[in-house]
Amino acid sequence: MTPSDTPEDPALWEDATRLVRGGLARTPYGETSEALFLTQSFVYATAEEADARFAGSGPGPHFVYSRYANPTTQMFEDRLALLEGAERCRSTASGMSAIAVALTGLLRAGDHVVSGRALFGSCRWILSNHLPRFGVETTAVYGPDLDAWRAAVRPNTKVFFIETPANPLLEMSDIAGVCAIAREIGARVVVDNVFATPIFQKPLTLGADVVAYSATKHIDGGGRVLGGAILCSHQIMEEAYRDLLRHTGPALSPFNAWVLLKGMETLDLRVRRQSETAAALADRLAEHSKVVRIFYPTREDHPQYAIAKKQMTGGGNLVAFDLGSQAAAFNFLNALEIVDISNNLGDAKSLATHPATTTHRAMSAEQRAEVGVTDGCVRLSVGLEGVTDLARDLSRALEAA
Ligand SMILES: Cc1ncc(COP(=O)(O)O)c(C=O)c1O
Repeated sequence: MTPSDTPEDPALWEDATRLVRGGLARTPYGETSEALFLTQSFVYATAEEADARFAGSGPGPHFVYSRYANPTTQMFEDRLALLEGAERCRSTASGMSAIAVALTGLLRAGDHVVSGRALFGSCRWILSNHLPRFGVETTAVYGPDLDAWRAAVRPNTKVFFIETPANPLLEMSDIAGVCAIAREIGARVVVDNVFATPIFQKPLTLGADVVAYSATKHIDGGGRVLGGAILCSHQIMEEAYRDLLRHTGPALSPFNAWVLLKGMETLDLRVRRQSETAAALADRLAEHSKVVRIFYPTREDHPQYAIAKKQMTGGGNLVAFDLGSQAAAFNFLNALEIVDISNNLGDAKSLATHPATTTHRAMSAEQRAEVGVTDGCVRLSVGLEGVTDLARDLSRALEAA
């Protein structure tokens, strides 16, 4: 091979390459690893230079304050944008700040939002309790039913919000189908893609306008830092989010961005391995007499298996199952010896939680009943441990359930 005259176009790279090389901006020192710019602000040689940088004119980078932008957070944003196939990405301090900004930036008093009703508890709280305080109406529908999304449309519907697979029972909505309805009425579609990960589902290619992440989960992958991200077109970023982010300040710490950049280097490897293990464990759990119901996207008995086949390229690392009662679920959790009891997910360590009393306790009992989050439900986030060890731990804990 001879050296090419034209530089590599990162848009041609595979995901694995994007995750390692995307957004990399080396300093003149030529460091191998991404540089950590742990600085709040920047200095200028002259007042004229400060004037030019604030105006965004003149040569060189235009960093002025890390609430607006920072070289390390920008590397993280550029890497994730490349992976997602988005024109722009902005990072935030947590997944919830990303969701809050993604929604509020597109809405004003008098608007209406339609969402799936199966959502992470804090997302459901934003829709049910927070947005209505500012004059935004919301309707929660049964996500898998496209007719329900269509029937919920009002003249003032401006945003559809989808979480798929949804936390915790992995209920799925048809992203392309909801986007088609949104296009007919000129509404925007925001997708929380946390459970699927950017490896197994690409909502922008299915017609979504905005994708939001909790980077706290698989993107970190080591349970270390909180982070979030919003991805969309240049136009939406400038019109809806740029000023909101700048003036309300939910900025990602550069240190956290650096940790997340390192996490991304192994994201593809990790989630593929975790997904393989999760699929194998789901099959074993399904056969156990104490498991009343099992939920895993790529199992044929999942109620929305057809949707998973259409829009996901892997099932992901989350498995949910029902043990029939809170007592059985608690006995199971308390008997685990390798898997930790934790409400987090996407970690290298396998983690299990009881959604009704942890992640989904912000929802009312009626809201939980509506989405099938019973007292017997357990959510398992499969980590990177050996599949045989995990299977043994689950079997032992099921005996105690
Ligand atoms: C689907 C989903 N969206 C958003 C979030 C919020 O992320 P964070 O904890 O980083 O704010 C979570 C957290 O568990 C989640 O599961």
